[in-house]
Amino acid sequence: MAGFEGRIALVTGAGSGIGRAAALRLARDGAIVVATDVRGDAARETALLAGSGAVALELDVRDPASWERVLASLPAAPLGVLVNGAGVTGLGAGAGAAAQDPETLSLETLRAVLAVNLEGVVLGCRYAIRAMRERGGSIVNVSSRAGSIGVPGAVAYGASKAAVGSVTRSVALHCAGAGLAVRCNAVVPGAIDTPMWGALLGDGPDRAERAARVGAEVPLGRMGTAEEVAEAIAWLASDGAAYVTGTEIVVDGGMAAGPVARRG
Ligand SMILES: NC(=O)c1ccc[n+]([C@@H]2O[C@H](COP(=O)([O-])OP(=O)(O)OC[C@H]3O[C@@H](n4cnc5c(N)ncnc54)[C@H](O)[C@@H]3O)[C@@H](O)[C@H]2O)c1
Repeated sequence: MAGFEGRIALVTGAGSGIGRAAALRLARDGAIVVATDVRGDAARETALLAGSGAVALELDVRDPASWERVLASLPAAPLGVLVNGAGVTGLGAGAGAAAQDPETLSLETLRAVLAVNLEGVVLGCRYAIRAMRERGGSIVNVSSRAGSIGVPGAVAYGASKAAVGSVTRSVALHCAGAGLAVRCNAVVPGAIDTPMWGALLGDGPDRAERAARVGAEVPLGRMGTAEEVAEAIAWLASDGAAYVTGTEIVVDGGMAAGPVARRG
């Protein structure tokens, strides 16, 4: 699908996983990609992979000053697309990791997760609306299945993603009410095999086996790929979705439909 020619597509969290796949996909469709990430090196790698005039900028989505710096250094073209892809789970074995069940979740972890996944998305939408006010555009937020179900071991993450659904609907109605040609939608990925799963799958020789076990719970029988989510992002971002705003596309291999009964 072409159609982004001459327009900037700014992607947050573009240094990895779904954000990177979205950046590459939008570049292929003709967008001038601005790959951003709190990890500048990772964003630069994505821009190199994207080619075709893509640029990389360091952006910490939690920080308004960081957003303002990035918006002030965009290439000279209208911002047509914002993909709010940056996200953290707060889970894992690494530094800063902490349990997230309702009894043990610390306020620090809750605030750290909300700062990226909720505040970062609200800030992104605010700055995008400003930049798109004259020429219109499309905002795509990356929510999660965890925002639509109870996730007792990931209270902060689930709450942050449920909030993304609400922010998406509010931004869509705000823009429509103001007569702006700015649409806002979300994708709702299920279990997508990206580095975000490192904490649960590890990176040892049994990673594939663990991923297969996660995939066995999915009606389509496997984890999804970042590229499969990027397909939905690209469509929501495109003019093909001109009549679509305030909604979500679920990309979860059928999980939202219910458990699957396998017959042979
Ligand atoms: N992988 C899944 O199964 C899955 C499922 C549902 C939703 N999601 C969502 O998809 C999005 C992308 O996740 P992913 O799986 O590609 O994970 P990932 O860890 O591969 O990528 C996330 C990226 O966000 C960046 N990031 C983290 N904090 C940031 C900040 N403050 N500012 C800017 N960038 C920051 C990271 O550096 C990283 O490059 C996230 O919002 C995630 O919650 C993922």
